[in-house]
Amino acid sequence: MDVIEAIKTRRSIRGYKPEPVPKEVLEEILETAIRSPSSLNTHPWEFTVVAGDVMEKIKQANIEKLNAGERPHLEEPRGEYTGIYRERQVALAVQLFQLMGITREDREKRMDWMKRGFRFFDAPAAIIISIDKEVGTGGQFDVGAVSQTIALVALSYGLGTCIMGQGIMYPDVIRKLTGIKESKLIVICLTIGYPDWDFPANEVYSAREPVGKITTWCGI
Ligand SMILES: Cc1cc2nc3c(=O)[nH]c(=O)nc-3n(C[C@H](O)[C@H](O)[C@H](O)COP(=O)(O)O)c2cc1C
Repeated sequence: MDVIEAIKTRRSIRGYKPEPVPKEVLEEILETAIRSPSSLNTHPWEFTVVAGDVMEKIKQANIEKLNAGERPHLEEPRGEYTGIYRERQVALAVQLFQLMGITREDREKRMDWMKRGFRFFDAPAAIIISIDKEVGTGGQFDVGAVSQTIALVALSYGLGTCIMGQGIMYPDVIRKLTGIKESKLIVICLTIGYPDWDFPANEVYSAREPVGKITTWCGI
């Protein structure tokens, strides 16, 4: 697939077919994606691929914590979005909820949608990316680069992804069921699987500010 086509067609996939992704395919995707750039070639990313019964156990434990009212959190919190950033966040939620037929007042459906996120959108697999805490938060830039590369490479295998925080918002669950050590920062994960194109939320093609509005040209 042409790189421009891949970048323009990629979108977050939040509904998957149940078919598992072969381990060899996941391995090939990661082999390619590790060609991503990183600061001083430190490539601090470490992958933990979860599927099968481990994935099921993580999903179950996440939901149990959510039901028990335990507050979900990222290990490296990003803070609340305000102003234009909050507006963009809300615009996405409106798009998603409209497609999924979820109204503002329907607390039950909203909760179901949230639970879906904590179940990794029922994807057959997820790639959790962590870095050594020694690397510091700067390493998160490198994780961003490799995440987008994974998402693009996956397209060549007919796979969809969603870079997502929800699945790892109970880090103790992830550590317990995968063995990721306390010395590592669990940064982000990607759900991965074959897209269910009949799933309404997969229709979302998210908005962007036009380049003209966010670019300052100097000397050109
Ligand atoms: C760091 C990061 C965390 C994200 N976390 C979530 C998440 O928890 N749940 C979710 O539904 N989408 C999540 N997303 C996906 C974004 O909502 C999505 O990338 C954005 O709306 C743009 O849409 P697109 O990916 O379809 O272009 C996350 C994306 C990034 C980069």
